Amino acid sequence: MIMSSSTPVLATYTQFLADETATAAIAQRLAQALQPLHSSAHLYLHGDLGAGKTAFTRAFLRTLGVTGRIKSPSYALLESYKLSSFNCYHLDFYRFNDPEEWVEAGFRDILEEQAVVLIEWPEKAGGLLPAPDLTVHLEYQGEGRDLTITAYSKQGQAWLTTLTQRT
Ligand SMILES: Nc1ncnc2c1ncn2[C@@H]1O[C@H](COP(=O)(O)OP(=O)(O)OP(=O)(O)O)[C@@H](O)[C@H]1O
Ligand SMILES: [Mg+2]
Repeated sequence: MIMSSSTPVLATYTQFLADETATAAIAQRLAQALQPLHSSAHLYLHGDLGAGKTAFTRAFLRTLGVTGRIKSPSYALLESYKLSSFNCYHLDFYRFNDPEEWVEAGFRDILEEQAVVLIEWPEKAGGLLPAPDLTVHLEYQGEGRDLTITAYSKQGQAWLTTLTQRT
């Protein structure tokens, strides 16, 4: 299924995040809700420059067990991490000028692998990406951010249910 404006929304979660600690805390809780992970997890992160997509991803990957430095993929486009039971891929499409570039860069294989995939600036791929399990929107709101997490798969919906039940 290709992501489009008609892709059905199965669930949403919203929260105000007052500071970076709050961003890290919700990312940590979401990563915990995914575990134990039995399938792929595809998350697309939306938000203006500096909204907190990388900050969110760092805390998320840290919670899944990634150790060592977690670099922003702004320049390399892709950072990969190998965990004992699955691989994690953190991508950033900001520098793409053409929606076909992610296909040319060979990133399609990553989406077919059973893996955790987080993509910043997915809109730069135009409408060519498959629908994710979850989207994470971070929007500037005063000194903080408004967070919206939206589920587009049954799996994503289940993770959001777990997240809200553990509040
Ligand atoms: N809830 C929050 N409230 C205020 N500041 C925050 C919040 N969450 C994160 N920040 C801060 O906002 C900045 C987020 O930077 P980050 O690199 O994560 O943004 P980004 O969305 O990945 O940007 P880019 O599009 O350039 O990749 C950091 O300086 C971080 O400390
Ligand atoms: Mg970033």
